[in-house]
Amino acid sequence: MTLKRILVTGGAGFLGSHLCERLVEHGHDVICLDNFFTSQKSNVAHLLGRPNFELIRHDITLPVFLEVDEIYNLACPAAPGHYQFNPIKTMKTSVMGAINVLGMAKRCRAKVLQASTSEVYGDPEIHPQPESYRGAVNPIGLRACYDEGKRAAETLLMDYHRHNHVNIRIVRIFNTYGPRMHPFDGRVISNFIRQALAGEDITIFGDGTQTRSFCYRDDLVDGMIRMMDAPDTLIGPINLGNPGEFTIRQLAELVLELTGSSSKIIEQPLPADDPTQRQPDITLARKQLGWEPEVPLREGLSKTIDWFRQIDLSHYRPPTPNW
Ligand SMILES: NC(=O)c1ccc[n+]([C@@H]2O[C@H](COP(=O)([O-])OP(=O)(O)OC[C@H]3O[C@@H](n4cnc5c(N)ncnc54)[C@H](O)[C@@H]3O)[C@@H](O)[C@H]2O)c1
Repeated sequence: MTLKRILVTGGAGFLGSHLCERLVEHGHDVICLDNFFTSQKSNVAHLLGRPNFELIRHDITLPVFLEVDEIYNLACPAAPGHYQFNPIKTMKTSVMGAINVLGMAKRCRAKVLQASTSEVYGDPEIHPQPESYRGAVNPIGLRACYDEGKRAAETLLMDYHRHNHVNIRIVRIFNTYGPRMHPFDGRVISNFIRQALAGEDITIFGDGTQTRSFCYRDDLVDGMIRMMDAPDTLIGPINLGNPGEFTIRQLAELVLELTGSSSKIIEQPLPADDPTQRQPDITLARKQLGWEPEVPLREGLSKTIDWFRQIDLSHYRPPTPNW
């Protein structure tokens, strides 16, 4: 295997820190760039002494000059409570971040993998969503700063590819969970686990019949690396996620069972633009990458719950009041 110089933007985050870990293990020279908006150094502290790991505090909305072979572009707040905290900054991070990363890739002839999202499909009218589906996004809604920012980033990748021959990859990531997700990100899995462990009521929005699919982080990181290493003709977009579909109520019940908690499930009003169903069609990933998720929800949740049990929540800053 050829060892490469790899930049991971957003590398201290939930997915980024696991990706860095995996790439460091493979022996690559890894640069983790992050402004720590939604993460903390503790996610990568264990890598700091490694000779093939480097950490840079930097905001990707500003240009940065590095010499690398590959770039995984993950920098962007990902949870609604985080990306709505400063929606203008969220859009800047996706758009200016992509421009800065693509400029670097053009200069270095580096390959860029963009961490896009299932949110580009908005509130979809078809299930499951194949990559050819163009989405139903509300451009003026509360989620638009994230959804439209990610859509614009995909556009930029494609245009740099067509006009400047930048070697690109686009993956559309569906809900992913696991150890090191921010405990106060306001997402359904972290909320449920935190509430169950604290013996508080578990809040579901709406009646809990809306469905989601949940991919364990190891599977996802494996898919991203496969995509980066795939032949240059495979640029995507390609869906990465777990097609197993669960209702929010089923998830709440499973968390209660696995934590052994006696918390109660209570209902609250549904937030604006909350999709009723979200499920990836991963036919392309199966065919082109030979990839599919392997970790069942029960197993992934158990590992995540174990991690939540051993962290000290007072070390995590709730970055927004939305948790
Ligand atoms: N986890 C998921 O379910 C999921 C789903 C779809 C897409 N994604 C995408 O994957 C990527 C990683 O998501 P995550 O779940 O690990 O979230 P995360 O919030 O843990 O990671 C994002 C990282 O980017 C950093 N960041 C934010 N703005 C930045 C900026 N301007 N400059 C530099 N760093 C910045 C944050 O500090 C954080 O470390 C994101 O781009 C997200 O949109 C994640």
